Amino acid sequence: MRILLLGSGGREHALAWKMAQSSVLKELFIAPGNAGTKKHGKNVNLSLSNFEEIKTFVIENNINMVVVGPEDPLVNGIVDFFEADDKLSKVPVIGPNKEAAQLEGSKDFAKEFMKRHNIPTAKYGTFTKDTLENGYAFLEKMNAPYVLKADGLAAGKGVLILDNLKEAKKELKSMLADAKFGDASSRVVIEQFLDGVELSCFVITDGMSYKKLPEAKDYKRIGEGNTGLNTGGMGAVSPVPFANPTFLDKIENQIIIPTVKGLRKEGIVYKGFIFFGIINVKNEPYVIEYNCRMGDPETEVVIPRLKSDLLDLLDGVGTNTLSERDVVFDERSAATVMMVSGGYPESYQKGKQIYGLNNESNSLIFHAGTKEDGPVITSNGGRVLAATSYGKDLKTALKKSYETIENIKFDNSNYRSDIGFDVL
Ligand code: AMP
Ligand code: GLY
Repeated sequence: MRILLLGSGGREHALAWKMAQSSVLKELFIAPGNAGTKKHGKNVNLSLSNFEEIKTFVIENNINMVVVGPEDPLVNGIVDFFEADDKLSKVPVIGPNKEAAQLEGSKDFAKEFMKRHNIPTAKYGTFTKDTLENGYAFLEKMNAPYVLKADGLAAGKGVLILDNLKEAKKELKSMLADAKFGDASSRVVIEQFLDGVELSCFVITDGMSYKKLPEAKDYKRIGEGNTGLNTGGMGAVSPVPFANPTFLDKIENQIIIPTVKGLRKEGIVYKGFIFFGIINVKNEPYVIEYNCRMGDPETEVVIPRLKSDLLDLLDGVGTNTLSERDVVFDERSAATVMMVSGGYPESYQKGKQIYGLNNESNSLIFHAGTKEDGPVITSNGGRVLAATSYGKDLKTALKKSYETIENIKFDNSNYRSDIGFDVL
């Protein structure tokens, strides 16, 4: 197969690493990729928002399948664009169409969907500028903390959790009336606060059947002990110790099956990955959010734990034959620790030379934000690289990742030294 993989983060490096091991891969292109993806294929400089440019590349290079890493092209309709084009309609795109991607692209759509299918999630109300007063009244009936969510995509920043009512009202107004998150906050979902521990679950589906992938736990806050600002994710572990078979069965029966069936029943064609952000409240799972793609950095532990040929599975999605494919997991644990630029998730510098990437290590190093600069590799983002290791248990895996990271240096780098602290 000739594959075009879209994206440039640690998730895409992990996917490219896995695809490169496939017996059916002929050629892999990654757009735009990073200094790490380059080891597994050819990086090509395409803009992910320019579907015409992607089309030309796909035709000229006889691409058989396009795999979409991030959510934006999906929410913007890349699948629909391919399906509507005579020259592209036979090239499967792995990812949901625009309608199905609304599970991530609109919080209100996701909440309505869950309500229709009795999928456990926090109670909520949705408000616009015109119903701001109703929003205030809704908040008055809730208890602190108050959860406000911009309806649309807001680069992971659109959720506010506020401790007092006055502040919550002020923020609600700022989101709705003053467009705090632009168009994304023209609607706001106000949610009941759920107190529990989060985990991420993943399936791949061809719209008919689905296969579960290993679950993972992501560490989103910048500071140790889960403090400070939210980031894209500072590390991840898989499996998740508290996700015992009983709990995972509840997730499958109460959440995964109703979601896949619900989509089908509503005639929504969903092909690709579904990411379930789950919270465990007293041993009952609730959906915090859906994403229409894999997680990052979760992919950096989930994909290494997949023994099966990823392209075989994706081919099953593309040809509606997923039920005939096998998914086998690696029984070992996997942990990943992210090295980030100092200052991230606020302002930070790029272009720092990275030393030690070629040192011998017991880890897989997935590049997240890196770039080749002549003979050297430099940082090119907030999240720079992820060191993933296997172990007989999480403790062993984490120890290896920390050993690896201690041997990699760049100016003003940062990482959390307590990944896994709460589950070990
Ligand atoms: P989301 O973008 O919907 O995943 O929200 C971002 C983060 O906010 C989640 O990962 C949770 O940590 C937190 N969060 C979202 N919704 C709730 C909720 N209803 N109760 C408690 N925490 C929440
Ligand atoms: N790590 C969370 C996400 O990918 O959304």
